[in-house]
Amino acid sequence: MSTVKLNTGLEMPLVGYGTYPLKGRRATDAILAAIAAGYRLLDTAASYENEDAVGAAVRESGLPRAELFVTTKLRGRDQGRDTTRAALEASLERLGLDYVDLYLIHWPMPAVGKYIESYAVMADLHREGLIRSLGVSNFLPEHIAAVTAATGLRPAVDQLQVSPSHSRPELVAAVQEGGTVVQAWSPLERNTGVLDAPAVTAIADRLGVTGAQVVLRWLLQRDIAVVPHSGDPTRQRANADLFGFSLTAEDMAAVAALDKGVPVKQDPATWEEF
Ligand SMILES: NC(=O)c1ccc[n+]([C@@H]2O[C@H](COP(=O)([O-])OP(=O)(O)OC[C@H]3O[C@@H](n4cnc5c(N)ncnc54)[C@H](OP(=O)(O)O)[C@@H]3O)[C@@H](O)[C@H]2O)c1
Repeated sequence: MSTVKLNTGLEMPLVGYGTYPLKGRRATDAILAAIAAGYRLLDTAASYENEDAVGAAVRESGLPRAELFVTTKLRGRDQGRDTTRAALEASLERLGLDYVDLYLIHWPMPAVGKYIESYAVMADLHREGLIRSLGVSNFLPEHIAAVTAATGLRPAVDQLQVSPSHSRPELVAAVQEGGTVVQAWSPLERNTGVLDAPAVTAIADRLGVTGAQVVLRWLLQRDIAVVPHSGDPTRQRANADLFGFSLTAEDMAAVAALDKGVPVKQDPATWEEF
């Protein structure tokens, strides 16, 4: 699996496996299939209520811990100076791990006003070795600037909603310019139509790949890492098989033209999720 070097010096797989919305044994089995298909990054969150299933898959895979990259996230209700440490410890307990590779603040929720102090606690946990790389999710440049100024540690990753309908070029460029890796969530738009758009299927037919592969490759060629989800082993394999073909500049523009300027529903400036 190809990787990108984070600002911590650690390598992160460019393609990860999104575990939402699976839970329980179904989740563990799907994750084991994903690992067998070559995925080495597992993306979970306290709010997905499947960290236990992710931990079970890590153990059942038989792979050395160092070969897997596990990301989890601080949920809204656990933000705060006095709660962030306990939240990470509870996630580690559910995962059955003694560190996570990447810990993200799930949403900034600026009106709540606790994301900066939460990040400061995460910086302590990073120094203690419980978090290998510090990250954020759904952070706008101003939120990244605030946590960086408070701690001197710029987030290694910002996991953002990016896909053809929401290509967000200015946001992506602003985050990337500071050396933070953008990782796209819902990169396939939950298969709500974009994978069958004529612009996508024309490229897919010419290259002999699927529409999902075209969309994921389009993101990778913008230096954006991806965490697609599929519960199906065949689609899991295809979604990770992105390095044997490439899109031309014309292809890139054709996919980008699918963005009609419709704003994301979950605006990071106001969205709250506890
Ligand atoms: N940070 C955040 O705030 C945030 C928010 C949302 C999600 N996430 C993370 O991002 C991950 C991915 O996002 P997502 O799950 O919302 O959406 P997604 O990856 O864009 O789409 C997943 C859906 O697409 C289908 N699919 C996958 N591969 C396909 C293919 N090759 N052809 C056709 N359909 C395909 C899947 O169905 P099948 O299972 O039937 O294949 C599933 O219904 C999540 O699992 C989660 O880890 C993070």
